[in-house]
Amino acid sequence: MEFDRVVTCMGAVVMLAALSSCGGMGAAPYRNAKLPMEQRVEDLLGRMTLEEKVDMRSGGTWMDTRAIPRLGIPALKMNDGPLGVRYWSPDISGTKGSFGTTAFPSGISMAATWDPDLVQREGQAIGQQVRAFGRNMLLGPTVNIARLPQWGRNFEAYGEDPYLASRMAVAYVKGVQGEGVIGTVKHFAANNQEFERTRVDVKVSERALHEIYFPAFKAAVQEAGVGAVMSAYNKVNGVWCAENPHLLTEVLKKQWGFKGLVVSDWASTHSTVAMERAGLDVEMPGAESLKEFQKDPIYSRFGFIGGFASPDKLLPVVRDGQVPQSLIDDKVRRVLGVMFTSGLFDRQDTAPTNTVDTPEQQAVARQAAIESMVLLKNAGNVLPLVAGKVRSIAVIGPNAAVARTGGGGSSRVTPKSSPPSPLDGIKERAGSQYQIGYVLGCSMEGEDKVKETATARAALIQEAVALAQKSDVAVIFAGYSPDTEQEMYDRNLELPAGQDDLILAVAKANKNTVVVLNSGGPVLVGRWIGQVPALLEAWYPGQAVGPAVAAILFGDANPSGKLPVTFLQRWTDSPAYANYPGKNLTVEYAEGIYVGYRHFDKKNIAPAFPFGHGLSYSTFAYSDLQLKPRKVAAGQPVEVSLNVRNTGSREGAEVVQLYLRDVKSSVDRPVRELKAFRRVVLKPGETQAVSLSLGPAAMAFYDEGKKDWVAEPGAFEVQAGSSSRDIRLRGVFELTK
Ligand code: GLC
Repeated sequence: MEFDRVVTCMGAVVMLAALSSCGGMGAAPYRNAKLPMEQRVEDLLGRMTLEEKVDMRSGGTWMDTRAIPRLGIPALKMNDGPLGVRYWSPDISGTKGSFGTTAFPSGISMAATWDPDLVQREGQAIGQQVRAFGRNMLLGPTVNIARLPQWGRNFEAYGEDPYLASRMAVAYVKGVQGEGVIGTVKHFAANNQEFERTRVDVKVSERALHEIYFPAFKAAVQEAGVGAVMSAYNKVNGVWCAENPHLLTEVLKKQWGFKGLVVSDWASTHSTVAMERAGLDVEMPGAESLKEFQKDPIYSRFGFIGGFASPDKLLPVVRDGQVPQSLIDDKVRRVLGVMFTSGLFDRQDTAPTNTVDTPEQQAVARQAAIESMVLLKNAGNVLPLVAGKVRSIAVIGPNAAVARTGGGGSSRVTPKSSPPSPLDGIKERAGSQYQIGYVLGCSMEGEDKVKETATARAALIQEAVALAQKSDVAVIFAGYSPDTEQEMYDRNLELPAGQDDLILAVAKANKNTVVVLNSGGPVLVGRWIGQVPALLEAWYPGQAVGPAVAAILFGDANPSGKLPVTFLQRWTDSPAYANYPGKNLTVEYAEGIYVGYRHFDKKNIAPAFPFGHGLSYSTFAYSDLQLKPRKVAAGQPVEVSLNVRNTGSREGAEVVQLYLRDVKSSVDRPVRELKAFRRVVLKPGETQAVSLSLGPAAMAFYDEGKKDWVAEPGAFEVQAGSSSRDIRLRGVFELTK
């Protein structure tokens, strides 16, 4: 008996030793979830061959990196995108992996809620759905600044202000990563136009980078611990982002202390040695699936490249010393670190359970859709459509009978069940209380050639006019579609397909005309806004578009959205106008930090609707602004408090915005910059004390000489408002030496 026991024990020791030497199950330190992450990384790194280190750093399929089964290293299993789980298919067409999930509202919608808690819940729901499919990495959020009002991907991102974008990015990443899914903040950096995005060289000042284009990335890294940063297609100041040492190493990894991994945008790398030295960690897609993509005409037409981290390219330059082994190890450490931190080694990825689009997740999508809509105009309180006051409603337009859930491109999400359109939502809500009529009025560009002829257009408009004439109210659903607002193309600022003519004709026929827009950013409304008493910006509200827009129109929900972008009166007013689309593939960001409202304020240009604007069915009064202390020492915060009262007759939410102006500075600074905000829900007559804090960072500007942030002593004016052009209270504090 004794001998047997000894032999058994010996056998166990031998087996354990063998297992641990080849990193088998259980025994090896890197398998021990109780050990510090760094220790697990070093243990595992020490067991890897050079080939394995190279292998795991590039794609195996279109959306996955290669696993290393010998050591139990999983693949990074990626999904698009910021608006919900898209698909992960091994091939670029996505046919092998298309499935329905929850289509959340667009990024610009989430920014328009000014509600970070809600955005975090959205991220959480999306993270849950990534896990439900046994995946582990989400390619979102998109945080690029809306510098160009017609950027094709404005709908995906969080608007023109770096502070608002930062708050949304932090909330979203915390939500996603709280579910054990790696978040990916993208696209680093200055990817602000689709026109020649893979070829343009963005010339931008260091100050504009730090004050405008970097903040959302920096916040995602330093406040949310984002696991991955995606490098952009374009060049910044002459160097491709995917091999830009200033961006990837000096700023991201050294200055900001980023410990995660940099993944390239798809087919956006340009060389092996430069990429490796600059700080790129994972190249997507891998060489195999890239070969399939290279057969697709869009590969060369749109200037895609890629395929530089494949072993046949990388191993030789490591062996001949052009890329030091230590650099390879740093990259592997980062990838392993992100995997350990996200729990990838300590759980078995579930097989796809397909438990997505749960009632809880649908509820988040619906609340977000409702909170995101921005009531831009409501003359004569045409809205809400109160039963008794309104009997018959004409529903008109190319976006009435179609649910425009999102824009086009890699962020496109297929809802699990086909979403009700605005017309469906209105019919459902109206019941027998209202008489609902519907006509198309105008066919969306590219959706029905037959209806796009001049004759057909005229007939459609006549139909719409006839219906409007005999209705109490006309509601026109206008805007864009996934084919007219999408990745890879910038769009027009005018509405497509002659929609302006439709709106003018209907507004002439019915003085109670309401326009509802689906757009991912500003639209030129000048031709008809004077004749239209009510305008609601609905952005792309996701799968709840129908019920949400009905809830707002009939007053079941009180609109509370605020503009995250300036609605300009004309394209020539834009700070980007003078340098778009660039000359010889070079785009000068000559406006520097004067992007969005910063420019309109500095040049004193009247926007059509200002940044931060959004009406409610209620009204709100601001009072008692207090600043403590009024003299603040460098490095200390100023506490701001004020009262907000609901002076209307129904419950509503107000977004209190705090802007700051440096009264006297050695460099040119904006008239106001958003530095804090709070969304408060108030019952009729209720007053709430709102407290906000302005930290030292709020007072600082980026000093290019010092290569650092500087807050100069002197007076600062605090402006509390309901929009950037509706400042209700002001106060001044002094920053002392
Ligand atoms: C696209 C996009 C990026 C997306 C990636 C994978 O080109 O720029 O946002 O995540 O490729 O689809």
